[in-house]
Amino acid sequence: MKPFPAKLHPSDAVLSLIGNTPLVPLRFEPEGVTIFAKCEFLNPSGSIKDRLAKTVLVDARQRGLLKPDSIILECTSGNTGIALSMVGAAMGYRVTILMSAGASEERRMLIRQLGGELVLFDSGGRYQTGIEMSRQMAAEDSRYFLTRQFENPLNIEDHEFGTGLEIIQQMEGPIDVFVTGFGTGGTLAGCGKAIKHRWPAARIIAMEPAEHALLAGEAPCCHFIEGVADGFIPPLLKDAPIDDHVKVRSIDAQTMAVRLQRQFGLLVGTSSGANVAAALSLAKDLGPAARVVTLLCDRAERYFSTRLFSQSATIPQPQLECLVK
Ligand SMILES: Cc1ncc(COP(=O)(O)O)c(C=O)c1O
Repeated sequence: MKPFPAKLHPSDAVLSLIGNTPLVPLRFEPEGVTIFAKCEFLNPSGSIKDRLAKTVLVDARQRGLLKPDSIILECTSGNTGIALSMVGAAMGYRVTILMSAGASEERRMLIRQLGGELVLFDSGGRYQTGIEMSRQMAAEDSRYFLTRQFENPLNIEDHEFGTGLEIIQQMEGPIDVFVTGFGTGGTLAGCGKAIKHRWPAARIIAMEPAEHALLAGEAPCCHFIEGVADGFIPPLLKDAPIDDHVKVRSIDAQTMAVRLQRQFGLLVGTSSGANVAAALSLAKDLGPAARVVTLLCDRAERYFSTRLFSQSATIPQPQLECLVK
């Protein structure tokens, strides 16, 4: 084995594992279509959010915004907190994460295990409570460095010149549809921009939980597709090249996640199931030659304590085989 090169910065080991994720074709039968899925769950902390954490913190360090006593602060439903805790640990910074009390226990445990500090807040379904709290904390203590995932333009650029360009190279030809859900909207806006720029005829589609379809003009309600749809349309989607939106019911997202696990051996979470359910429905409309791309956002291990694990044994096989009517 080659020794780790001495001149590398201590943080480079884990940072070098972020991005350049594989894109795999998933052949669906009996539907007779192929979905192209980018495996973001293979990032080192297990989600698409590693890219944002790396880009924002490396940029801040380069621009001298991080001091030795800086504390990285963010409000997140979990994956960003885990990613920031991982990158913060590698770069040698303290990390404080504001997280809704309803987020899964696994996420809290991972943040603490990586040395992050957790402040739980009771949002009463209002995610912006946490965003406001983080701004208040930063105003009162200059050691806090806010990564501002909901408004930071790097969140879009990172996916435009990272995830999006990787998809274009890996697809080796035209893309008919790119579909994904949104939390901050960084992935959808960034990948959408890159793909539209290269393939202007490609359709960029936003996936929303059917119970929380804001782009469809409906009132938000409870859903269980963790990581997406936080109760408002995020500002990063303002200029995103979105052609249309599709709804996926939480139960169908969960069923598809289980199908991905049992038919493809892909241990992914509910938002990945939602993305693939949307992609499959769109591909079926376009026919067998359709080139539809989506993202597998995070790992199933993040959901042991949720209904993805507690209820999936009860999903009957015929439902798994014929999910999208
Ligand atoms: C599991 C999961 N899926 C999807 C997303 C959406 O990503 P974005 O914030 O780029 O819209 C997130 C964001 O945290 C997530 O955690």
